[in-house]
Amino acid sequence: MSFLEGRRLRRPRMAAWSRALVRETVLTPADFIWPIFVIEGQNERQAVGSMPGVERLTIDLAVEAAKAARAEGIPALALFPNTAPDKRTEDGREATNPDNLVCRALSAIKEAVPEVGLVADVALDPYTSHGHDGVMDGEEILNDETVDILVEQSLVQARAGADIIAPSDMMDGRIKAIRATLDVEGFEKTLVMSYAAKYASAFYGPFREAVGSGSRLKGSKLTYQMDPANHEDAVREVGQDIFEGADWVMVKPGMPYLDICRMLKDRFDVPVFAYQVSGEYAMIAMAGNAGAIDKDAAMTESLLAFKRAGCSGILTYFALDMARKLNS
Ligand code: PBG
Repeated sequence: MSFLEGRRLRRPRMAAWSRALVRETVLTPADFIWPIFVIEGQNERQAVGSMPGVERLTIDLAVEAAKAARAEGIPALALFPNTAPDKRTEDGREATNPDNLVCRALSAIKEAVPEVGLVADVALDPYTSHGHDGVMDGEEILNDETVDILVEQSLVQARAGADIIAPSDMMDGRIKAIRATLDVEGFEKTLVMSYAAKYASAFYGPFREAVGSGSRLKGSKLTYQMDPANHEDAVREVGQDIFEGADWVMVKPGMPYLDICRMLKDRFDVPVFAYQVSGEYAMIAMAGNAGAIDKDAAMTESLLAFKRAGCSGILTYFALDMARKLNS
């Protein structure tokens, strides 16, 4: 005889079929944006030491990666260049060169695989000799001078074939300036996805190795990226970016900031994306390789958590692996 009062909450967990019926969140390949690192050259891949399983690719191989993504139902790719050292300057001017590495990669992929959406990151860190996202005067990262360059960078990327312009620099006022210029120049259909709630995080370390900016970086990004202690600041940043014209907003990093994802989703009427950043990827991949956790299961659980937190999609280095797993 049953002596329990109330419901038996374990009852629907007893069989796979009943668990499936009441599952609240699903993961599909259409949830992912796959970040790719590109390098100069032909038919070459370079392992990124701190991100086991991730490689920098030459443009021809990035095109193949885009085809693989399309075949698995991944809607979009985000491209990041590893710029040659001799092209990195104080002012990061290579960012506005219409023939730079990322622009050539955008054009090549757009031509070969037009159905795949292309995200272009807007910030100067892959192009500056000091590794900061903007231009500097002494120790200071200059806001308005940087925004002028970011506007030009956005335009060359849109012209090269970017479908989504994604400013990751955290300068004030850049969304408005970029949106206005895109509209005037005939790119009114180009989306703007703002890295709106971007925190000054230790979890970007492996990314900086991948794009070659880490060893150059002088000081921290605390004067422009957000303080990890803050919640209300995310509300202000997102509100401002929506006001300025952002279509979609992003939270970054992802896993340590799921509270921010949920709060923004509940509070604002725009799609919220999260970036499961390089350090998050590295933790799961390395712990998996060391036998400390089941890598596949941890990958799946971590990505599902973003959907549960209300995200429309996730930028993740696991995109292809996860899509393959979901499709098999
Ligand atoms: C550049 C940028 C960074 C990332 C995406 N765009 C690094 C940074 O802000 O220092 C990090 C992505 C990752 O860690 O995977 N502004």
